[in-house]
Amino acid sequence: MAATGSAPAERTLVLVKPDGVQRGLVGEIVARLERRGLKLVALKLMQLPSERAARHYAEHQGKVFYEGLIRFITSGPIVAMVWQGREAVTVVRSLMGATDPLKAAPGTVRGDLALDLGMNVIHGSDSTARAGAEIALFFEDHEIHDYERTLDRWIRE
Ligand code: RTP
Ligand code: MG
Repeated sequence: MAATGSAPAERTLVLVKPDGVQRGLVGEIVARLERRGLKLVALKLMQLPSERAARHYAEHQGKVFYEGLIRFITSGPIVAMVWQGREAVTVVRSLMGATDPLKAAPGTVRGDLALDLGMNVIHGSDSTARAGAEIALFFEDHEIHDYERTLDRWIRE
């Protein structure tokens, strides 16, 4: 069925944090997002400069864990990605699991792959408004590739 009349696909920013890259979990996380039916439209390996980390986590400035959070997220390479699809923001947040891996449900990335609140492997935008701003912080427009997949018609009616 054609997707005529359905809501336009949403985009969200996903980061594999330094612990995920060091532990060789990039493929596992990408595979989970692909299998769910989301579409990868941008990807890069990078080490986050602290100035950009501060902008990314500005909402947490002043909190007790803020300094440690910035130190951790800038401590090694991360993989930054943009994923697109139906309700992508909500879908990724539910697939990630709760912030504290000890509270994350089995079957989620954090519930299956992490144990520590600080080292919780993955970031995903927490709202569509934030997703737009976060994507712009990590990617230029020309780095994001919208394209047709022949299998899309088997993912969404
Ligand atoms: P993220 O932004 O990294 O995707 O995680 P999140 O939305 O699930 O959680 P958020 O509240 O935005 O917190 C950002 C990161 O800060 C660390 N954190 N530590 N010690 C604490 O109470 C505490 N609270 C949060 C976590 O590593 C969390 O991912
Ligand atoms: Mg957050």
